[in-house]
Amino acid sequence: MTHPMLESASRAPARTRARLAATALAATTLAAAAVVAAVTTPASAASGLGQLAAAQGRYFGTALANNHLGESAYATVADREFNSVTPENEMKWDATEPSRGSFNYTGGDAIVSHAQGHGQSVRGHTLVWHSQLPSWVSNGGFNAATLTSVMQNHISNVAGHYKGKLYAWDVVNEAFNDDGTRRQSVFQTTIGDSYIATAFQAARAADPTAKLYYNDYNIEGINAKSTAVYNMVKAFKQQGVPIDGVGLQTHLILGQVPSDLQANLQRFADLGVDVALTEVDVRMQTPADSSKLATQSANYAALTKACLNVARCVGITVWGVTDKYSWVPDVFPGYGAPLLFDDSYNAKPAYTGVSGALGGGTSSPSPSASPSSSPSSSPTSSPPPGRSCSATYRKVNEWNTGFQAEVTVTNTGSSSMGGWTVSWAFPNGQKITQLWNGTLSQSGANVTVKNVSYNGTVTPNGSTTFGFTGDWSGANGTPSSVTCAAS
Ligand code: G3I
Repeated sequence: MTHPMLESASRAPARTRARLAATALAATTLAAAAVVAAVTTPASAASGLGQLAAAQGRYFGTALANNHLGESAYATVADREFNSVTPENEMKWDATEPSRGSFNYTGGDAIVSHAQGHGQSVRGHTLVWHSQLPSWVSNGGFNAATLTSVMQNHISNVAGHYKGKLYAWDVVNEAFNDDGTRRQSVFQTTIGDSYIATAFQAARAADPTAKLYYNDYNIEGINAKSTAVYNMVKAFKQQGVPIDGVGLQTHLILGQVPSDLQANLQRFADLGVDVALTEVDVRMQTPADSSKLATQSANYAALTKACLNVARCVGITVWGVTDKYSWVPDVFPGYGAPLLFDDSYNAKPAYTGVSGALGGGTSSPSPSASPSSSPSSSPTSSPPPGRSCSATYRKVNEWNTGFQAEVTVTNTGSSSMGGWTVSWAFPNGQKITQLWNGTLSQSGANVTVKNVSYNGTVTPNGSTTFGFTGDWSGANGTPSSVTCAAS
């Protein structure tokens, strides 16, 4: 897999978009609200992807930035779709302890307050990281004992401040290099290997109920880096170092979901820790087009399914609400469009990739829909009790630029269904030219087929079939996720 060069994040040119005025306003307003209720387990959201994930015993979250919460579309989508949030920058060391012993919780408190008001759990991010680390720490010239005490004091104060209010903490972030050696951060070079265990012990002491995570990128597949993390977690479990989870950031490049993602999640889970996809985005060379968006949808569906297939994969967090504010173009010029909502807050094919994989429908929410939007237009509507179906896609024939395929709809419920809707996203821009035994609508990569009058009624275990011909070019991949909704 191409190396994402994430280290360059800390050297990125300053973002040109204005962030600061809104930050100050949102922070002042929201920090005033008292932070009361403890959130120690993933909350259930009112709607959207969060609700679909909750039905699977998972959460679906987003990175949230205070400076955008004043934008109504941003807040509307964040609160409608996600039942977990991670402060994108507000709980990092440079924000919380900008000078020694002087703590500032304004931004973090605002996020926690907002989350509590919207039924969202919070993943704290992050206590010990080489980046966004104030120079009084990185260039302080401390000896091992003093830097250990500086780190313990930071953890004790910050995790202590949020005690009982967070679902989890990313205690240590990005401590390994891609070759599996330790990153030469100031903590590593001054304290040595032991700093990570020390950080986890301090975090447990400060907040006994938060799940304590090690978090990193490029550990999604089985490779030298993920194996180094695996060995550390295994040792921690043997030594009694308090670690509860491993966060796989999952900053991916289009078309490069590791084929062994699920196996890798499972091997971590088998050590006795939870796993989570903590900062998901799938970047592409911009501008986006329908083919890239379809591939991105398939990639999101695949990573969602990998998580669902691992019992201890507790949830997925995407690294931002909208492409408009993603960190990606700042750090990888020429790349972008990595998230589920575009610059105008329209749901992208990737959204339906996720919602389909989570077992929901594949309709998109309207851009302005509020969290209490009508279930009939939301991807979360549920079938009548006892009614459910599945659909399987089979390519029957393929030639030059055309192909024929068949989809079998099976009633998997306990009662007869009176109608069905099957949906998928084509991964390679295929276009249906003619369809029989169903009513077709296709928008870009997204296909929806409903029954016609004579084949809507299907008895339990019974099935019916529709077929179509289509055009393809370049590649003619099978949709990674075909969903069926019974009515
Ligand atoms: O706070 C300053 C402000 O004072 C300054 O005036 C302004 C100028 O543009 O910049 C502000 O800081 C920016 C900060 O985001 C807050 O907006 C930094 O320049 C910018 O580099 C920083 O980027 C963040 C990046 O971490 C820093 O490494 C991104 O928003 C954030 O998405 C990103 O998140 C990281 C995760 O924490 C860890 N994993 C990788 C992921 C992506 O890099």
